Amino acid sequence: MSHFDIQKEDESDDYLLKIKNLKKYFILNNTFLNLFQKKRKIVRAVDDVTFNVKRGEVLVLAGESGSGKTTLARLIMKAIEPDSGRIIFDGRDITKINKKNILHYRSQIHMIHQDPYSSLNPRLKIIDSLLEPLNIHEKKLSKDKKIEACLNTLKEVELEPFEEIAEKYPHMLSGGQRQRVGFARALVLKPKMILADEPVSMLDTHIRFQILSLMDDLRKKHNISFLYITHDLLTSNVIGNNIALMYKGQIVEYGNLSKILKNPLHPYTQALIDAISQFNPDNLKKTKEIKIVDRSTVDTAEGGCIFYNKCIFAMDNCKNPPTFIKRSHDQQVKCFLYENNAIN
Ligand SMILES: Nc1ncnc2c1ncn2[C@@H]1O[C@H](COP(=O)(O)OP(=O)(O)O)[C@@H](O)[C@H]1O
Ligand SMILES: [Mg+2]
Repeated sequence: MSHFDIQKEDESDDYLLKIKNLKKYFILNNTFLNLFQKKRKIVRAVDDVTFNVKRGEVLVLAGESGSGKTTLARLIMKAIEPDSGRIIFDGRDITKINKKNILHYRSQIHMIHQDPYSSLNPRLKIIDSLLEPLNIHEKKLSKDKKIEACLNTLKEVELEPFEEIAEKYPHMLSGGQRQRVGFARALVLKPKMILADEPVSMLDTHIRFQILSLMDDLRKKHNISFLYITHDLLTSNVIGNNIALMYKGQIVEYGNLSKILKNPLHPYTQALIDAISQFNPDNLKKTKEIKIVDRSTVDTAEGGCIFYNKCIFAMDNCKNPPTFIKRSHDQQVKCFLYENNAIN
């Protein structure tokens, strides 16, 4: 296997991944409105995001559709380049690394997508899909050893009978089985981290929990770190350690998962949790009114709180940029409501 040829910045570090002030704006050039007004519309997909993930930790990244979760994952994968900010992985700055190091980086961190079908090549047998990453990253390994590694991985993701499954094509498997193949594909290179982007949202409810418990087993067994991306707080409760709530490209609340689910501080987190009523199972199927207001006609000053237009608690102060306020050692919130209750 190849190796990084960049020095570690810090040897004694608990954190596997550190994201510092990451930014990615998209400029939309050719919408009708833009042509008409000769103005360019900017989407602040990831807007000054900072967080850390420990070794063996599951960080849940939650937020409604369009909040920037996938863009953030693609930045971490180096599928796209940030406008600014830094990504430190395993003590090394990988923000600006060369091709050889990117190849090595991609053997250590993997992304799993929402649709397990579209991420598998329909013309390849499962065994050949699994061999692909080994052929790229483990060129020196003999063919027999590679096949053995693939079969072991299928066993590990509980795809039995594994020798039969190996010979099948993706269309012959169920959605849940295909997502297990997705995990096997990630695992075959023994990664340090997996970014799972809504991995269960297309699966039936009972299968969802099986896949989540598989993730939890893999974390415990191999000390793999996970970024578990979801718009569904209910599933996050099963496996998460910490949670980051994202809204319009920014993290608005961050900290211990069970604490935040029980006692959400940011009005956005409160609205999300209220909407699912997750502590009352009878309410789960009902659509509840999210507690928000609509002040979309109000022109907020640039740089003010991102939730200002929808917040039922908005004050004049909220037109200024909020900073993170530490409420306890494991809960931080970006909201002026808590300004006078911060701890050091
Ligand atoms: N390649 C792109 N070009 C322009 N806009 C994009 C691009 N990718 C994402 N966006 C925009 O960035 C915002 C965040 O998108 P995304 O990261 O997919 O959110 P999420 O995964 O939370 O649903 C959305 O407004 C989306 O339309
Ligand atoms: Mg997404």
